Amino acid sequence: MKGVSLFANVGIAETYIKQHKIEIVVANELLDNRAKFYQEMHKKCEMIQGDITNDDVFSRVLSSAKKHKCDFLIATPPCQGMSIAGRMQEDDPRNSLIKYVIKLACELQPTNILIENVPKVLKTYLIHNGTQIKITDYIKNELEPLGYIINPVVVDASDYATPQSRKRAIYLISKVHKWELPPKQEKITVRDMIEYLPSLESGEASPVKFHRAKVHNDRHISFLKKTPTGKTALHNKIHYPKKVDGTRIKRL
Ligand SMILES: C[S@@+](CC[C@H](N)C(=O)[O-])C[C@H]1O[C@@H](n2cnc3c(N)ncnc32)[C@H](O)[C@@H]1O
Repeated sequence: MKGVSLFANVGIAETYIKQHKIEIVVANELLDNRAKFYQEMHKKCEMIQGDITNDDVFSRVLSSAKKHKCDFLIATPPCQGMSIAGRMQEDDPRNSLIKYVIKLACELQPTNILIENVPKVLKTYLIHNGTQIKITDYIKNELEPLGYIINPVVVDASDYATPQSRKRAIYLISKVHKWELPPKQEKITVRDMIEYLPSLESGEASPVKFHRAKVHNDRHISFLKKTPTGKTALHNKIHYPKKVDGTRIKRL
């Protein structure tokens, strides 16, 4: 299956997508250096660099996706603009970027669409025709009449063989069925992944390719060393990460 990627950055989101027999053949990214990096990594893909809100850029992406018969769309719009209803005085233009994902979806109508963002997207509103609407409702209003089934889920990377707790919202959207998440996998720890490597102190490197430790300050070293396996540093009652003024950091 061929696919198109919006807000592609350097293509991290689609790293493993080939394993699922999907080939991203068209991609769009705003920034020149990111687009060049993407193109270097994915030489066969047509990278169209530019602002997706620009009519010319949008129609080039659409016509290339149509030409390649793309039947899959992945979109990972920026999340900095996420704000909750009520506090939102006016439309944050970054929240509205998702409208271009939906516009492309409506015109291309690929069988499957995957939209990824921070979990807060599920509570975030955008302004449409002058009124506030939840992003999720906006997506449903636009796509359900076209026969899409929309399944918004929150996924924790640690449930899928990744040694990191990181939650993301994903809209799994399909024309053929309710697209569900695969069964959760057994958790793995950072130790499981790296214990075969030689031990390094801050700033040291080993002969193993890319194996070098970042230079950390004493505060970081203290809480990193004392973090129990399977916990985050924030669980540590004494050696927890602190701000410069000594107060506890609530979230990393
Ligand atoms: C959250 S990142 C995407 C991360 C990406 N999926 C990855 O795997 O690396 C959002 C990207 O959208 C790009 N972007 C922001 N505004 C854009 C616009 N108007 N048109 C096209 N790309 C845009 C940003 O430069 C950024 O690289």
